[in-house]
Amino acid sequence: MDKASVTRRYHFSAAHRLHTDRLSEEENWKVFGKCNNPNGHGHNYTLFVTVQGDIDARSGRVVEFDTLDRIVRQTVLERFDHQDLNHDPAFAAWTTTGENLVILIWDLLLAQLPPGRLKKIGLIETRDNYFEYAGPAAQLTGAAQSSHG
Ligand code: NI
Repeated sequence: MDKASVTRRYHFSAAHRLHTDRLSEEENWKVFGKCNNPNGHGHNYTLFVTVQGDIDARSGRVVEFDTLDRIVRQTVLERFDHQDLNHDPAFAAWTTTGENLVILIWDLLLAQLPPGRLKKIGLIETRDNYFEYAGPAAQLTGAAQSSHG
């Protein structure tokens, strides 16, 4: 059976402040720049969710969009849209960076989708910032490749 992947795009707006007590005030500013501003700020995030699977012989589809949209809406969008990410319990000990956000969204959706379906999470934070996560297995593959290179 043929396999393919499908990517759906979603939007949410959220506030955050990049700051960690593990770094000094100077280091926080050096690492996070304007995102360390004490007053916080917002982003209009664009989220890409890529799922993979067999193409259904009857529908020609890998996934029902309505089903995926409902899962993403209930699991991610309703949780983060118009919220302060720094107040989300999942970020109690993590900075609200794009890197940490794609991993959290991956974990949240992985728990809601059948095994092997989720392929990649992409997240545009600003015009010039794009983050991506494809699970711990993808990380291991990358590490193995680089160690042989
Ligand atoms: Ni920011």
